[in-house]
Amino acid sequence: MCGIVGYVGYRPVAELLLEGLHRLEYRGYDSAGIAVQYGNTIEVRKKAGRVSELAGLLKAQPLVGKIGIGHTRWATHGATTDQNSHPHVGGNGEVVIVHNGVIENYDILRRQLQTLGYVFRSQTDTEVVAHLLAHNLEEQTRLHGSPEDLDVCLKAVEVTLNLLKGTYGLGILFRDLPDTVIAARCGSPLVIGVGKDEYFLASDASPLVGYTKEVVYLSDNEVAVLRADALRIDHRSNGSVNVSVKTLEQVASDTDLGQYEHYMLKEIYEQPTTIENALRGRLDNEEATAVIGGLNLSAKDLRRIDRIVLTACGTSWHSGLVGEYVLEEFARMPTEVEYASELRYRNPPMSDRTLVFAITQSGETADTLAAMRECKRKGHPTLAICNVVGSTIAREADGGIYLHAGPEIGVASTKAFTSQVTVLTLLALYLGRMRHMSYPAGKRIIRQLRDMPEKISKALECHDKVREVADKYHHFNNFLYLGRLYNFPVALEGALKLKEISYIHAEGYPAAEMKHGPIALVDQQTPSVFVIPRGGIYPKVVSNMEEIRARRGPVIAIACEGDTDIARIADDVIYVPDVEEYLQPLVCAIPLQLLAYHVALLRGCNVDRPRNLAKSVTVE
Ligand code: G6P
Repeated sequence: MCGIVGYVGYRPVAELLLEGLHRLEYRGYDSAGIAVQYGNTIEVRKKAGRVSELAGLLKAQPLVGKIGIGHTRWATHGATTDQNSHPHVGGNGEVVIVHNGVIENYDILRRQLQTLGYVFRSQTDTEVVAHLLAHNLEEQTRLHGSPEDLDVCLKAVEVTLNLLKGTYGLGILFRDLPDTVIAARCGSPLVIGVGKDEYFLASDASPLVGYTKEVVYLSDNEVAVLRADALRIDHRSNGSVNVSVKTLEQVASDTDLGQYEHYMLKEIYEQPTTIENALRGRLDNEEATAVIGGLNLSAKDLRRIDRIVLTACGTSWHSGLVGEYVLEEFARMPTEVEYASELRYRNPPMSDRTLVFAITQSGETADTLAAMRECKRKGHPTLAICNVVGSTIAREADGGIYLHAGPEIGVASTKAFTSQVTVLTLLALYLGRMRHMSYPAGKRIIRQLRDMPEKISKALECHDKVREVADKYHHFNNFLYLGRLYNFPVALEGALKLKEISYIHAEGYPAAEMKHGPIALVDQQTPSVFVIPRGGIYPKVVSNMEEIRARRGPVIAIACEGDTDIARIADDVIYVPDVEEYLQPLVCAIPLQLLAYHVALLRGCNVDRPRNLAKSVTVE
């Protein structure tokens, strides 16, 4: 949700920032812009639209310099216009900033600044920060010296930050302080790349890949000063911070498209490997259990736990729902799944025996982070199931489990979902074996999990059939997605995928529940996608399917290979490999991801950059 880049060093900065913005574009693509400093001059180029639009502008009006900041925007305040694009200029050009986050008290600050004579050129909350910085710089200069003095500039930053309510990751250039980029963080992620005679700033590590492996994660309430030859970080209350440099594991090819046309397709096809990575080293055949190293809780602590709360947003919330089923079934552990945006403000009774897991691909989702912090505040052990190493949630959690799925760039989450489900299943096995589960049962689950990468490869063989189905149905404007038990969350996820990238209205429902409302939508123009692999209540779901057929609704079935009966009821059948019920979400997710992908392509939608969405939602 908005991407920030910054650089100070010896390289031509405009090209570097542009490349960084391309890599961060998944965080927002309403507009893009950069500011480059050369001596005491800062020049800005910005444009509504994708980063490629900005690249065009820079070709026509190049910028030269070795220090700069850039931004790719996901609009919160103000329409997607050139004026509302970042960077924003404060005062008469003394300060230029980029911002990720939301300034909640921007309205009152804006009115105060207008009274002081500041003229606003945009409708954004960010411009308030730019003018405030300019104003405070003037004040501090009057009190303490010159705008060329770093301490004066830092004081202006400090006074400004004290006035802000809300969240921010900021990149700041002061016109009279050449060779310096200042960064500040409160609630929105920032990482600093450490090079030789150069420093990088970014919202996440992707722009640094290929340039440096040494990174420093900025924490909330820290302010960093980046100069080609030095990095200084201060905590706003505690003073100077000992800089702790971490090593990045990501390699450049992780973010390459390779042979694929879109990241989403690439990531769908990575799933045999990403599931294998989630399982690697975590299956203990001897003990018939899972090996989960990072929980930082002893077996004794874990046996004390009598309830689990899983909290997440979006697709991660759907994987949590699968987690609820499997944790209750394998570990007999009462489990609840909470929308993080609700949990953060609710006050559900939770005892000190409640274990909380935040599930998040990015590790930066604002609501998930806030819910996790709220649970921590109340003393619950709070763990993360997370993909991005070093992300805020991964760092703040008491422990957790990484997905090891590699960077997920496509805005519609695919491989993260199946990796989360895999990890939650491992967790259920682990807790189950600590409690009720027998040795043979543990052995059986391990065997079944081991087979999953191969089963997912087989599931991908449905691709041609899915293409055909997409071709037949892509012009419909309403869809129902129906499934029961483990496949109810899969139905929700399938509907979400279609909505997200093809802008078709789709509702996911427990198949039997559709009689209580959604069935009123059914007609020849409303196809239903049934997730109906074999299982204990298969005949019941068949009855639900018949109910739709009786109302002349077209039916697409996701069924187990060999299930020829279903072809007599459904209009179209997409087959997936036969697996145990608790593993069906993994195989059944594949055709639904591919279906959304192909329908979106056929409707001319931008699969990797769907409108209005962002990969990482760092605002409330
Ligand atoms: C955004 C993304 C979704 C994702 C959700 C939660 O809405 O577009 O794909 O599921 O955030 O993100 P997280 O990184 O916390 O899993």
